[in-house]
Amino acid sequence: MESVTYILSALSSDMGYDKTKLIRMNLNKIRNDYERRLREAERQAERERRENALEEEEYDNNSNETQEKNKRKRKEAATLAKVKQSKELARRKARRAGEPDDDDDPIAGMMYQKSRPLPGQLENCEICSKRFTVTAYSKTGPNGGLLCAKCSKEIADEEKKAKPKKTGPKSGRRQNQSNLLDGLVQRGAQSLVEMCTKARRSINGHKVADNINDVEEFGDLPPQLLHRLSQILSKRRVITPRTLQLFLRPDLDSIDIYDCAKLETEDYEKIFAFMPSLVHVNLRFASQMKDKVIEYMMDRNPKVKHLQLDAANLVSDTCWRQLFIKLGAQFESLKLSNLDSSLDDETIDVMSRQCTNLRRLKLKECWKPGDKSLDAISRLPKLEHLSLEFLRETQCENVVGMIEKLGPNLQTLSLQSFHNADDRLLETIHRQCQNLSKLRLADNAVCTDKGYANLFTDWSNPPLRFVDLSSTRDVDNANPDGPAEPVGLASQGFVALMKHSGSKIETLNISSCRHISRAAFEEVFNKDQTYPQLKELDISFHTTIDDYLVTSIFKCCPAIKKLVAFACFRVRDVRVPVGVALIGGLRAQDSIIVEGDFQGELS
Ligand SMILES: *[C@@H]1O[C@H](CO)[C@@H](O)[C@H](O)[C@H]1NC(C)=O
Ligand SMILES: *[C@@H]1O[C@H](CO)[C@@H](O)[C@H](O)[C@H]1NC(C)=O
Ligand SMILES: *[C@@H]1O[C@H](CO)[C@@H](O)[C@H](O)[C@H]1NC(C)=O
Ligand SMILES: *[C@@H]1O[C@H](CO)[C@@H](O)[C@H](O)[C@H]1NC(C)=O
Ligand SMILES: *[C@@H]1O[C@H](CO)[C@@H](O)[C@H](O)[C@H]1NC(C)=O
Repeated sequence: MESVTYILSALSSDMGYDKTKLIRMNLNKIRNDYERRLREAERQAERERRENALEEEEYDNNSNETQEKNKRKRKEAATLAKVKQSKELARRKARRAGEPDDDDDPIAGMMYQKSRPLPGQLENCEICSKRFTVTAYSKTGPNGGLLCAKCSKEIADEEKKAKPKKTGPKSGRRQNQSNLLDGLVQRGAQSLVEMCTKARRSINGHKVADNINDVEEFGDLPPQLLHRLSQILSKRRVITPRTLQLFLRPDLDSIDIYDCAKLETEDYEKIFAFMPSLVHVNLRFASQMKDKVIEYMMDRNPKVKHLQLDAANLVSDTCWRQLFIKLGAQFESLKLSNLDSSLDDETIDVMSRQCTNLRRLKLKECWKPGDKSLDAISRLPKLEHLSLEFLRETQCENVVGMIEKLGPNLQTLSLQSFHNADDRLLETIHRQCQNLSKLRLADNAVCTDKGYANLFTDWSNPPLRFVDLSSTRDVDNANPDGPAEPVGLASQGFVALMKHSGSKIETLNISSCRHISRAAFEEVFNKDQTYPQLKELDISFHTTIDDYLVTSIFKCCPAIKKLVAFACFRVRDVRVPVGVALIGGLRAQDSIIVEGDFQGELS
């Protein structure tokens, strides 16, 4: 009976807000609706429950091996009983049809490894009485007779629907895994936002999104929660001109809408008209944003400092330049992505001359900027965070020149798909960058292992917290082992990286760095090493990684929460500590969560 009150009470108890004022929605309607559905679900579920009892238990009960074995036995017994039953059914049927004994249950067939041809005989459907040909997939009806394809399907759908949904705190393993993936694993008190996220997942929480049209306003929701709701509603693609109103709050200085695809030009104008004190603007999938809107913003919103726009492809270069000239001097961060028809080198040049207070710049999936833009960006005097992914090819010299100038001031650096950047870039980073906490140099087949080793050896930069060197490798598929002098982050570079940053590293992506040897992994994850902060590791496409190495990783990384291992074909049957999500394993479906203290169990 938590329903929407779940969120409300979470809010009111956490924040001291007045319930009734928070969300004025039709609570009674929602609650009745919810209760009715719950009763229905329960009635349907009851039927299923007995059958599913065994399975459910296994699902929810993380027991040890002895128990597991017992359960398997019980399950086998149950299956056997089913088989017996269905054989009995077949026998009865056979007698009726005057044919020899036969199995009509696919499970029975599988259990006995029989591949006898299935009957193919004609039957009358128990439900609709239609005559039909029996197949392996024909279901058994409520009175033991067989069902035609249509009725079989309906029964199957019904069964699927009737599966009891889990609610509230009794969340199953699947929900736990899902939470793990969202980083919700921590125990103890949950923050408001987490409760809200959870609420969304449980059937209760869907209420807000499902009933979004009943919501009149979010009242004085704190901005943090409003932001979260924007994410939820965007994900469900229910941000429309109507629901947008809920986010228009003149008292707030920030707006984040993650899916503007359904908004029209005038909706954008509404945003800027209703919220004159905006400082922070973040609009994604803003495909209907036009010059007119930007012009409107320039007039109405003199305080914007942080601007993030995605897919604003109807904005012209002329308009971008006007914007930079008018408001550029006050911009502190600028993030533009998925622009294919504007934002050319000349516009970037205007940007770099006007936006002299920029501390953060991100240009991702932009089609037009090239070498000249790199030169222009290198003149931004205050840049601390730089993230670039261009679609045009650029020269190594220009990238190096940019880092030469900006390096000393940078705290985070992300360069993706700069295919011509070679070891000179790594040397320049080593020499010029001394204050980085995040480094991404992904998708490059030129920089060498030696280059990476030199970068991380005796580097005066403190240990990095975030490293992504994914897809740095040689790409000659005719020679999968790569050249004799390894290209990309390989064994030496990896060992040097972990020596340099191992004590602080939190997130590491070495996906597809295919030339890291098994010996290097063994050296890095040997039993005397610990990487106390490492929480997320992506080792996808490393075919040398096996169960032993994954176990070593778990031992060396006590804080690990998420291990991504797509296409690690030798990872087969690994014991996963409780609280850790192993993603992409061959048998991801049944990756095992071990109860209790993993470290203790192993030593
Ligand atoms: C596990 O299953 C046993 C046996 O059915 C049951 O008694 C016990 O309560 C279950 N434990 C948990 C944690 O669900
Ligand atoms: C596993 O179960 C057995 C018997 O139920 C028990 O003696 C043993 O202590 C359990 N082991 C662990 C690690 O829980
Ligand atoms: C799911 O996680 C919660 C808290 O993290 C825990 O109390 C519960 O036992 C877990 N359930 C299962 C089935 O692992
Ligand atoms: C280094 O980075 C930190 C934040 O990570 C910042 O506070 C500090 O001012 C930077 N130092 C220099 C010398 O740039
Ligand atoms: C690691 O990098 C690859 C390739 O760049 C990317 O596809 C993947 O999503 C990244 N992994 C994580 C966990 O972010």
